[in-house]
Amino acid sequence: MRKNSVFIETYGCQMNLADTEVVMSILVSNGYEIAKELKEADVVLLNTCSVRENAEQRIYGRLGNFKRYKETNPNMVVGILGCMAERLRQDLVEDKKVVDLVVGPDEYRRLPEFIDKAYGGEKGIGVRLSRVETYDDIMPYREDGLQAWISVMRGCDKFCTYCVVPFTRGRERSRSLESIVNEIKQLSARGFREVTLLGQNVNSYLDGSNDFADLLAACAEVDPLIRIRYTTSHPQDLSEKLLLTMAAHKNICKYIHLPVQSGSNRILEAMNRTYTIEHYLHIIAMAKEIMPGISFSTDIIAGFPGETWEDHLATLDVMQKVKYDGAFMFKYSPREGTKAFKMEDDVPEEQKTKRLQEIIDLQQKIAAEINQALTGSTDVVLVEGTSKKSDLWWAGRTDSNKVVVFPYREGIKKGDYVTVKVVRSTTATLIGELVG
Ligand code: SAH
Ligand code: SF4
Ligand code: F3S
Repeated sequence: MRKNSVFIETYGCQMNLADTEVVMSILVSNGYEIAKELKEADVVLLNTCSVRENAEQRIYGRLGNFKRYKETNPNMVVGILGCMAERLRQDLVEDKKVVDLVVGPDEYRRLPEFIDKAYGGEKGIGVRLSRVETYDDIMPYREDGLQAWISVMRGCDKFCTYCVVPFTRGRERSRSLESIVNEIKQLSARGFREVTLLGQNVNSYLDGSNDFADLLAACAEVDPLIRIRYTTSHPQDLSEKLLLTMAAHKNICKYIHLPVQSGSNRILEAMNRTYTIEHYLHIIAMAKEIMPGISFSTDIIAGFPGETWEDHLATLDVMQKVKYDGAFMFKYSPREGTKAFKMEDDVPEEQKTKRLQEIIDLQQKIAAEINQALTGSTDVVLVEGTSKKSDLWWAGRTDSNKVVVFPYREGIKKGDYVTVKVVRSTTATLIGELVG
């Protein structure tokens, strides 16, 4: 008998990517097949994001497409997973006739049950949040490759005033250290070369007496050929112990994603970020002292309620001081249910656009300067394959997550570590040559 096949599209952050692998694992062990293309699928699931208005608009656009598919294939089941499912719940099935099931991030074990019901014409909604669910016992479904995501904690207790995540993902809870280490052992046996430990606030990780630094050390010790990365750190909780642990292990990448959001203390307070810019810069300085050459990336929001031109300049000032390798930069987007939603969204749209553009321009200039300064330096590169643009080039990444391309040479394969000297750069890419 032909198995039912499921196609999943994933939106939003890496945690959603990791959740999709958990969902696929649950479905495969319940007899489903994973479809490579939408048109082969009996069930299509969208794992969604609610973080900004435009993230949700994209999903609505996509649902519009599915309406047409469903007209030609009325038995197709359409499901919404993830943060939008959690935020909009019942409204989704009521407003969007095309939607058959709505399942939030903590109810994925029940998906097979909901899909069965949907075949019988019943709409299903599972949106309870859990204080304990971590899917600890589920081995995510992964294709062979070099890089894997591992979710180590779920939820967020920070309640930044602009953010929906604490509402869509629920309270913080951690997976066991043992299960994470075991997962890395299995990835090592399959030839993986890089894992990224994921959580909205990984520094809150706690399993018994093991904190995030202990987890990081245990992960690094599994296989010296596996690079360990992690995201995201909250500046309030990033400890000196964590920095020392990073320094002590060669295979923990010297790179930290440390969202600053704003350079103004007044705005940080209104955002409930719970640190000052002085504290933030102190952490950066401490990290640079412990690990010279370390790189940073960040998230920035332009036009939060009450943000003045001076506040905006303070953000540009922090960018100049830290010199981030990369940044995710957003216009403030009011989200219903958050504290900031009750504040007046008083920065005019054209100001938001202007400030965001200034932030983007400055970041591009800084990134280009950082890349230019690397000309002549050598670095270890993990070879990921031939360049997307041409088979005549190998492409890989440095420890600090920079893409490097270098001329093709026989005898090198995906997953090798090679030493490359940088000869020139563009804003996005370093161009190098093999050393030795
Ligand atoms: N847990 C992470 C990131 C969560 S969401 C952290 O604390 O850094 C990713 C980024 O989206 C945030 O860092 C923030 O910059 C942005 N973001 C979240 N809510 C937003 C909103 N309402 N409007 C604009 N940007 C937002
Ligand atoms: Fe959202 Fe703040 Fe939690 Fe990050 S730390 S997920 S921005 S509430
Ligand atoms: Fe989006 Fe949910 Fe991630 S709101 S950013 S998918 S946690």
